Amino acid sequence: MSANWTPSSWRAKEIRQVPEYPDKAKLESVEKTLAGLPPLVFAGEARRLREQLGEVAEGRAFLLQGGDCAESFAEFHPDNIRDTFRVMLQMSVALTFGAACPIIKVGRMAGQFAKPRSSDTEIVNGVELPSYRGDNINGIEFTPEARIPDPDRLLKAYNQSASTLNLLRAFAQGGFADLNKLHRWNLEFVDGSPQGEQYAELCERISEALSFMQACGLSAERSSQLRETDFYTSHEALLLNYEEAMTRQDSLTGKWYDTSAHMLWIGDRTRKLDEAHVEYMRGIHNPIGLKCGPTTEPDDLIRLIEALNPNNEAGRLVLIARMGHDKVQEFLPPLVRKVKKAGSKVVWSCDPMHGNTVKSTTGYKTRPFDSVLGEVRGFFDVHKAEGTHAGGVHFEMTGKDVTECTGGSQAITDENLGDRYHTHCDPRLNASQSLELAFLISEYLKEERQEKERKAAAAA
Ligand code: PEP
Ligand code: CO
Repeated sequence: MSANWTPSSWRAKEIRQVPEYPDKAKLESVEKTLAGLPPLVFAGEARRLREQLGEVAEGRAFLLQGGDCAESFAEFHPDNIRDTFRVMLQMSVALTFGAACPIIKVGRMAGQFAKPRSSDTEIVNGVELPSYRGDNINGIEFTPEARIPDPDRLLKAYNQSASTLNLLRAFAQGGFADLNKLHRWNLEFVDGSPQGEQYAELCERISEALSFMQACGLSAERSSQLRETDFYTSHEALLLNYEEAMTRQDSLTGKWYDTSAHMLWIGDRTRKLDEAHVEYMRGIHNPIGLKCGPTTEPDDLIRLIEALNPNNEAGRLVLIARMGHDKVQEFLPPLVRKVKKAGSKVVWSCDPMHGNTVKSTTGYKTRPFDSVLGEVRGFFDVHKAEGTHAGGVHFEMTGKDVTECTGGSQAITDENLGDRYHTHCDPRLNASQSLELAFLISEYLKEERQEKERKAAAAA
């Protein structure tokens, strides 16, 4: 057990990005209620994800993490959950084909509510109000009442997370993810698009392989691997009052787990060694992520790794680089080199979203598809040059046909952004853009794999 750690030891540290609740008594009473509610995930599941991420760290698997920037009460609907899950399945099929290795699927779902903000207040037409911090904290409406942090929102977020997770479990284990149903995962608006066609071709090839396997006696009825999938949940562990209330001691091992999600991560704005977020995260035994931005110093990163993964266990720590397409080639190599030299076993993942946000000419916050792709390409190039494994990707995406990021084969322009701009925070890739990206990444993974095979053959 980590020295001098308790689920509440973060309270003695400096903290950033958390709201000031005016009603402290109510907050305390909600925290108590939450602490008595059932865990959302089990320690055994978090351990299983940790093992699978260990395979990623060793270069034998690939991580696909994705979902909303911010889940919201308004967009809570079974169809939205289904569509995001479905696109992630499609992406994972495309990636499996290129990588020929397991794809570990982790949703930014069932708990991704709280948002760090660059400013504590927002000014509209000369009126200044506290910033919106996510539906589990305050309301997005620009009124003084909505922006007051309300503890009851935590209970609503817990309940929404529980229902979302319940549906995800049903989809993953109940037949929806059966590889024989691959054709049916295609969404209507993706049909007929270049990605839709590429996906249909892939389905044909997989169906042939499945028929062949069935003839050999390997059917979905007999093999759960063909019929079911593992799907995990994750969110940024930002609102520590909530995370603490969900922290439970595993009866099997005596270790502490944050049972609000399988995986949690530390954001780019809260990754200070001596502060509250790192303090909380060092003591839980879930797999955790750490965002690394252009301001992450290599020496600081090593100190953070020592604090967060003192036993150097593969699968405990995912470093999520979010540099920007124009910075990744400059800022990522020093970090990768330092971590490699220290012998730290980590997963390197690429978040090509948060360093590529721009303001469109029509006033919307957007992300050009080419910048997103450019950062992914840069990430793969850096790992190829350093001889390390490009372990995964982290996307803000949705299964819906939204118009939030420009470009892609649908060629969404600044003028189109207003058509279906629904996000509660940052712009997300839509289903078609997500699938397009997965196919492109699949090509990089294939190159990486073939390079490895060539080297192995040359060495033999
Ligand atoms: C996020 O992932 O939603 C986020 C806010 O990212 P970052 O901390 O990297 O800015
Ligand atoms: Co975001």
